Amino acid sequence: MPRTPYIAANWKMHKTVAEAGEFVDALLPQIAATQNDVAICPPFTALSAVVERRHGTAVKVAAQNMHEEGSGAFTGEVSAPMLGEVGVEAVVLGHSERRQYFGETDEALARKVPAALEAGLEPILCVGESEDARDAGQTDAVLERQLQADLAEVVGGKLGVVVIAYEPIWAIGTGRTATPEQAQEACAFIRDFVRERGGPGEAVRIIYGGSVKPGNAAELIGQPDIDGALVGGASLDADDFAAIVKAAG
Ligand code: PGA
Repeated sequence: MPRTPYIAANWKMHKTVAEAGEFVDALLPQIAATQNDVAICPPFTALSAVVERRHGTAVKVAAQNMHEEGSGAFTGEVSAPMLGEVGVEAVVLGHSERRQYFGETDEALARKVPAALEAGLEPILCVGESEDARDAGQTDAVLERQLQADLAEVVGGKLGVVVIAYEPIWAIGTGRTATPEQAQEACAFIRDFVRERGGPGEAVRIIYGGSVKPGNAAELIGQPDIDGALVGGASLDADDFAAIVKAAG
């Protein structure tokens, strides 16, 4: 069975509740006919508003991070059950900005991914190499290390529930997109990893992130092992994001 394309809008630290509502109202009519999976990842404060506004549609709502424990003395953190309670269905984990600026570790991710699954959330796990690692020919090694660590506690059968986002750090927010060949190669490598771990390699969704725009989305998502996109900058504009959803077929 062909895999359903998966397009996610990672708003990062953008949009108030009012702005989020305007975006959803502008987006929904434009993507009413799509068969693709569409997710919006707002900041925590706008999650409930987006859950409410997308009501009655297939659009999923995802958080951008969560803590691995269900509750506890972790000031400033939010747990998977808390997200589930407000109607959130998915969560971005291991985004490179969290790894770079907020000390997100593979050890924590090894606990976050199963905690998300346990709570019924679909993890969108981000992996990707730095420019130095790519220049040193270390791309596959970095991806393998991250996947091995972050998915260590996920049994093979459950791997199909995880959406894996290949996000080369040098392409995020830089306007420098990976070439379709580079992105395809990395996504194929990730699919092989899932197969070797006993997961459903044919079913797992592997998406690309890094300067995806309406103009380059179709070619990237058209690659055999690229099943969609995690979109940052271009997801802040409803028309641009709708164009990317439509470009995904
Ligand atoms: P970008 O961000 O599309 O702005 O490069 C992608 C991401 O960080 O997920």
